[in-house]
Amino acid sequence: MAKQTIAPARSVTGSVSVPGDKSISHRLAILAALAEGPSEIRNYSPAADCASTLECLERLGIPLDAGNARKSSRARTGSRPAPRLVRIRGAGPAGWREPRRTLDAGNSGTTLRLLAGVLAGQPFRCKLTGDASLRSRPMRRVIDPLAEMGARIRSCEGGFAPLEITGTPLRAIEYTMPVASAQVKSSVLLAGLFAAGTTVVIEPVRTRDHTEIALAEFGASVRRAGQRIEIAGGARLQGREILVPGDISSAVFFLAAASILPGSRLVLQSVGMNPTRSAVLDFLVQMGASIRVTELAQNSGELGGDLEVTSTSSTSLRGGKISGPDVARLIDELPMLAAMGPYTEEGIEIRDARELRVKESDRIAVLAESLRRMGARVEEFEDGLRVAGRAEMAGAGLHGAEVDPRGDHRLAMALAVAALGARGETRIGGAECVAVSYPGFYEDLNSVANRS
Ligand code: S3P
Repeated sequence: MAKQTIAPARSVTGSVSVPGDKSISHRLAILAALAEGPSEIRNYSPAADCASTLECLERLGIPLDAGNARKSSRARTGSRPAPRLVRIRGAGPAGWREPRRTLDAGNSGTTLRLLAGVLAGQPFRCKLTGDASLRSRPMRRVIDPLAEMGARIRSCEGGFAPLEITGTPLRAIEYTMPVASAQVKSSVLLAGLFAAGTTVVIEPVRTRDHTEIALAEFGASVRRAGQRIEIAGGARLQGREILVPGDISSAVFFLAAASILPGSRLVLQSVGMNPTRSAVLDFLVQMGASIRVTELAQNSGELGGDLEVTSTSSTSLRGGKISGPDVARLIDELPMLAAMGPYTEEGIEIRDARELRVKESDRIAVLAESLRRMGARVEEFEDGLRVAGRAEMAGAGLHGAEVDPRGDHRLAMALAVAALGARGETRIGGAECVAVSYPGFYEDLNSVANRS
C-alpha cells in the first residue's frame, strides 16, 4: 500500500474500538520485564512502535509470549500488527542479558528513550538505534540527565542515536526538566529505580503520567505532588495482570471526523481518559463539538470510558488557539486539531509548539505544506501554525490533492480525516505509515464512512 485514496464522505456513523494505548503498552511491557513473576497485558497495542519494544525486550533475553510479534514483526510500517495479549515472564532486572545485536527501536521515540533509562543502570553494554526519522530526533534531553546520574552513554555527534550505553551503578538526582516531555521524565524515573537514593523529577508542565501510575501498580514507591515526582531506588517489582485502555490519541481522528461531518454519530468504545491525556475532549467541546462520556471507570489506575460524538446540520465549530501549557497536554492531537481548521469558523492557531518540529517528522512544515495542497490557507510560524477557518476562506472549502505525510503516522491520519470533507479524492503517499500507531486505521475509517 503505497498510496491510499480517500474519497469524501457525507457523514460517519457506527462504532469503533480503537487500538490499545501506545504509551501505556510500552510502559507495561518494560515494567513487566523488570518485574518478578509472570505478567499478562491485555489489549496490548498493535502499533508497530509497541512491537519494537517487545522485540528489544526479547533481544535483552526477556521471555515473552506475544504470538506473531515474536516473528520479528520488524517494528516497521506495513508489518503485521502485534497481538493483543502479551505474556511476559520477568525475573527482575537480573533476568536482563547483554544483547548480542543492536536494539532497534524502529520509529519509536518512547522505546528508545525509556529503554535508555533502564539500560543505563544494567551491568552490561548495548547499542540502541532506530530508523532514519528516530536517528534525527534529539536524544540529549535523555542523555544529559542520565549522565548526571552517572550513566555512560555515547551518541552520534550532536546527540543523536545510535546510543551506546555501558551500564553502571547510578546515583539519585533531583532533575528539573527544561522541556515538557513524558519520555524524558519516564527515562529518568526508570533509571531512578536502579539508583541509590530517591530520584526527583520536576516537570515544567504536567505531562502524561502513565509511567508513575504503572510503576505504582507494579509495586514501586512513587510519590507525586503536582509537577514533582519522587521515586525510591531499589524497589522490587511484582508481575501482574493488567488491561490497556483504548488510545485517546487514536480516538481523536474519529472524534474529529464526526465533528466536521454533519449528521454523524459515532461511539468509541473503552477509550483511556487519563486526565493528563484527555484535554483534547475539553478543547473539542469548547469549539462546539458534542461529546458524551459514558461508562467511566478506573482500571489499574487508568481511567477509561466510552465516547459518543454527534453532529447535526446546526453544529458549528468555532475554532480556537492552543498555546502555553496546553501544547504539552495536546501534543499528539495537534496535527488533527490543525487539520480541522478549515472546518471551523475562526480557524485553529497553534503557538509555543516548537516540539512539533522534532516529532516523527517536522509536523509544522509538513502539515502546512499538505494542508495548503488541499486548498487551506496556512500561516507557518517558527513555533506553530495558523490554519484559516471558513470566515477567511469565503466559502472555499478543501479540495482533494496528492499529499505526502513523510512517513508520519499522525499526519497521514489527520490528512485522511480532513480529506473526508474535501471536494474530490485525496491521495496519501506512503500511507502505510499509519501502522506505527494504528495498523487498521483505513479499514476502521472506511467502515464508518457513509459515501453513497
Ligand atoms: C510519549 C510522549 C510524548 C508523545 C509521544 C509519546 C510517551 O513525547 O508525543 O507520542 O509515551 O511518553 P514527548 O515526551 O517527546 O513529548
